[in-house]
Amino acid sequence: MSKKVTELREIAKIEAERMREANPAQYFERNLHQLGFSEPEHALLQTIKEMTDNALDAAEVGNILPEIIIEVEETKEEITLPPQAGKIRKANMYRVRVEDNGIGIVSNKIALSMGKVLFGSKLFTMKQMRGQQGVGISAVILYSQLTSLKPATVISKIEGEEKATKVVLKINVDKNEPIVLEEQKIDWNKEHGTSVEVFIPARYTDKIDKYILELSIGNPHASFILRKKIEGRKSELVINRTTEKIPPPAKEIKPHLSSVDPGILQRMAEVDKDCKTLVSFLSKHFASISPETAKKILKAAKLSYNLPPKQIKADKILEVARNIKLRRPKLEVLSNIGEEAMIAALKNRFKDAEFIAAVSRPPWTYQGIPFQVEVGVAIGGKEVANYINPKRITVIRLANKVPLPYDLSDCLLYKTVNEIDWKNYGLELNERGVPVVPTVFVTSLVASKVPYTSPGKFAVASVEEIHDELTLALQELGRKIREYTYKKRKQESIAKRYEFFRGYYEVLAEEVGLITGGKVDVSNVLKRLFKEVRNVENVE
Ligand SMILES: Nc1ncnc2c1ncn2[C@@H]1O[C@H](COP(=O)(O)OP(=O)(O)OP(=O)(O)O)[C@@H](O)[C@H]1O
Ligand SMILES: [Mg+2]
Repeated sequence: MSKKVTELREIAKIEAERMREANPAQYFERNLHQLGFSEPEHALLQTIKEMTDNALDAAEVGNILPEIIIEVEETKEEITLPPQAGKIRKANMYRVRVEDNGIGIVSNKIALSMGKVLFGSKLFTMKQMRGQQGVGISAVILYSQLTSLKPATVISKIEGEEKATKVVLKINVDKNEPIVLEEQKIDWNKEHGTSVEVFIPARYTDKIDKYILELSIGNPHASFILRKKIEGRKSELVINRTTEKIPPPAKEIKPHLSSVDPGILQRMAEVDKDCKTLVSFLSKHFASISPETAKKILKAAKLSYNLPPKQIKADKILEVARNIKLRRPKLEVLSNIGEEAMIAALKNRFKDAEFIAAVSRPPWTYQGIPFQVEVGVAIGGKEVANYINPKRITVIRLANKVPLPYDLSDCLLYKTVNEIDWKNYGLELNERGVPVVPTVFVTSLVASKVPYTSPGKFAVASVEEIHDELTLALQELGRKIREYTYKKRKQESIAKRYEFFRGYYEVLAEEVGLITGGKVDVSNVLKRLFKEVRNVENVE
């Protein structure tokens, strides 16, 4: 063997010795940036986002009108962060606490749900919820213990319990399990709900207030109190709900056979313990598959009906399933915002806007997953002017009713608004393509599963069906905008002409006054003239 070959063998052996398994806590501890925990400003927003997502979900499953308290307090303690571009970075430590009136967590599940990565109630459900991965809150706690070294404090109570349970915990990263430092029953003046508190290096900017305001547009039935203590100064932002109507609850659905990956189908069949045959397996686990349809699929895939699920040939079944027309899944499983509620929320947010409109499309599907898009717009007024970014079209993006504050240019909900030529709908645009009159758009997507571009859930991926529905919704909104701009232009032109002729009327009236030697009431003549002109303009 040559020297080179022996060397390569040795290297391969050394590599083999290095190989080891990693658990999700170890993975995300090293990749927290993928979840939005990279620098202090983003980390604060991400922390609040994960906590409020969970708070709203916990209210929604209980059909409860959400009341959410968010506390953000800057402490004097400084934390040194890993250097970036050779510079040492420091940030103040913040205390962040979010309290909700949701259903609460059963006491023996508090530590697990908070302190184990990829553990949660939403992971295997196909149901429209804000959370879907079982990563959110544990990522916050991982970031907190990694940077401030402090544990998280969770208090939770379920209906009917006399006392709440308080758990102070950290995460054992190597085992991916919670380390409970303290657990006790405490008095808590609340019937049900959860409070989570962490300490993280952070930087407060008004993006936080903006986020909560946008959150209230997606959740007009929720009330929020944001209590801040920044640089020693206390302040509070209170947003009351604009509707008492709880949106219809979202329903859980089964996956559509044509949308599952072969690996998942294979694994589902291998772990199934309840079904004896492939026919019962397919009709039990998938939407729109009756035993008759299952038999048809199996026949076409040349598989026996009575084979046990373990002997599935996932690739053959999927080949057939993707070529036959399966019934569309039930679409009435989503919980949308609704045109009326979106309009009310926009009116509440942009009180002096000149024009507000919203459009809801009916539900549709992508890859067998139900989704629905809604869009809205607020035009004109000081509040919109103060809100918008003059450099680009301003779009509030909501996915399952939660704002997406990052990765704008990668997001379908932004790109589709940008594709529309708003000039065709009467909006005058400047050289950057931004409407001259301050305009803010809202695009909302609700889905049993939102196709995010990354685990941080910052942007919606490009999916043709969603793109098409969004385009239709925006075109309909555009027609409403055109009606408004047409009326507005007409009124403006009337006002201009009115002003123009006014000069003549005044001269005319003066002359009439002179000729009649003051016998005619000039102001009366003027009034009548104006009235006549108005009448004529209105007839036009
Ligand atoms: N405020 C809360 N009230 C009730 N249950 C909660 C609350 N916060 C978290 N949970 C429970 O803890 C689980 C884990 O939460 P986590 O945020 O880590 O994941 P998720 O919300 O399921 O998904 P995602 O990773 O998308 O946020 C949730 O699925 C839920 O069952
Ligand atoms: Mg969550």
